[in-house]
Amino acid sequence: MSVPRPAAVIVLAAGEGTRMKSRTPKILHELCGRTLVDHMLTAARGLEPGRLIVVIGHERDRVQAHLERTSPDAQAVVQAEQRGTGHAVRIVLEAVGAIGGTVLVTYGDTPLLRTETLAALLERHNQDGNAVTVLTAEVPDPHGYGRIVRDAVGTVLEIVEEKDADPAQRAIREMNSGVYAFDGLLLADAVKRVSTSNAQGEEYLTEVLSILRQDGHRVGAHIAADHVEVEGVNDRVQLAFARRVLNSRLLEAHMRAGVTVIDPGSTWVDVDVTLEPDVVLHPGTQLHGRTVVAEGAEVGPVSTLTDTLVGAGAVVRNAVCVEARIGPEAVVGPYAYLRPGTVLARKAKAGTYVEMKNAQVGEGAKVPHLSYVGDAVIGAGANIGASSVFVNYDGVDKNLTTVGEHAFVGCDTMLVAPVNIGDGAYTAAGSVIDSDVPPGAIGVARGRQRNIEGWVARKRAGSRSAEAALRAAETGNQQGSRT
Ligand code: UD1
Ligand code: CA
Repeated sequence: MSVPRPAAVIVLAAGEGTRMKSRTPKILHELCGRTLVDHMLTAARGLEPGRLIVVIGHERDRVQAHLERTSPDAQAVVQAEQRGTGHAVRIVLEAVGAIGGTVLVTYGDTPLLRTETLAALLERHNQDGNAVTVLTAEVPDPHGYGRIVRDAVGTVLEIVEEKDADPAQRAIREMNSGVYAFDGLLLADAVKRVSTSNAQGEEYLTEVLSILRQDGHRVGAHIAADHVEVEGVNDRVQLAFARRVLNSRLLEAHMRAGVTVIDPGSTWVDVDVTLEPDVVLHPGTQLHGRTVVAEGAEVGPVSTLTDTLVGAGAVVRNAVCVEARIGPEAVVGPYAYLRPGTVLARKAKAGTYVEMKNAQVGEGAKVPHLSYVGDAVIGAGANIGASSVFVNYDGVDKNLTTVGEHAFVGCDTMLVAPVNIGDGAYTAAGSVIDSDVPPGAIGVARGRQRNIEGWVARKRAGSRSAEAALRAAETGNQQGSRT
């Protein structure tokens, strides 16, 4: 980073976020795989600040636990009562002491703000030698925001809140984003002098600008190139908007790096997803967590993958996959559910209406239709017939089934675990296999068929079935007619 590192970034996040109408604190709402506050902290981290401070208040235990897990480098400072943005900063500086150097103040609810924009603010701040530089934006509808009041030559005079503004000030379309670069020592002094004489009776951080200007210091502004970036999330409509903007940004970067996205409008990716060149994402695809899709693989339509690895050239259609590893050129779906611990080797198949869990499927092995495979090791080249079930759970324990290389499990086999099918062994269709089948043997475990001649004529006399049987007897057709 070319700009000097800030001494500290202070993220204000103590507010309740009432308009979310949620049991979850606003800043813990998620978009693209990260919470609101994590997005802000990630952008701040890009500046390599000396310290990262988050002001917490509402639901502080929950927020603190979240920060300890996701951002151990951030220091939480409690603001027990939310008495305004100025009060929040004062509490921090009372808790940690005055901070020399540049102090950046931001909010926890602006997930679209990029490191580059914060760096541009710092650059302007340093170049102009300001005591404070505020990040502003021209917005189509400034309602609810503080307005940037400038004099005739454009010098920033003050920030006036909507509730304190006169009609002329309300007409100003340049808004205060709430992000500022401060000279830390001047901030520490000025924030103690902030009044509460305003419409909301709060300590406004915005008043620090007027105080510093009146002290004869330089006060400046940096206008953000894109106003969308500085807009905060206050309700779920804005959350959805921010999610779409962020998702579009992520998809655009992937497309420029060689990924085909058939329908960006219905494709969703989290920030930590990795996509290699020539990946194709079909409509309705959602990639979550640390999912990785290797070169030339195709995912979708309508597939949701979480923390899943997809090998090069694999095809995944209409599938839900969680913590699965799909090998190169493997085939999944249409309509498959791969649960944690599923590992498909190269060219393996988990086909239509197939569910797998904790299952290793060897190279080229196939489970093509209508099967449940739980707690299994399947050898290379094995084939599992339609409608088979790995009966892994006896009501107490989960047990393992092994199927050897090139084994052939007949349709509708119940493999009652623990059980082992040897290399090259077969099972007869419809078998309930509860003891091992040695290599090369066939396991047959089903009732023998017997046919009772003339049963329909006796028991269903006069029915359509009986008439059909009679016609067959007259024409000597033993197989049934094929029309
Ligand atoms: C503030 C600005 C306004 C700006 C707007 C941009 C002030 C006085 N006004 O208004 O000029 O246009 O942001 O969004 O600063 N917070 C605390 N502790 C508090 C109060 C707030 O941590 O005591 C946090 C909130 O969690 C929130 C942020 O600070 O993330 C902004 O607070 P909010 O009350 O929403 O300020 P606005 O009225 O939107
Ligand atoms: Ca706000």
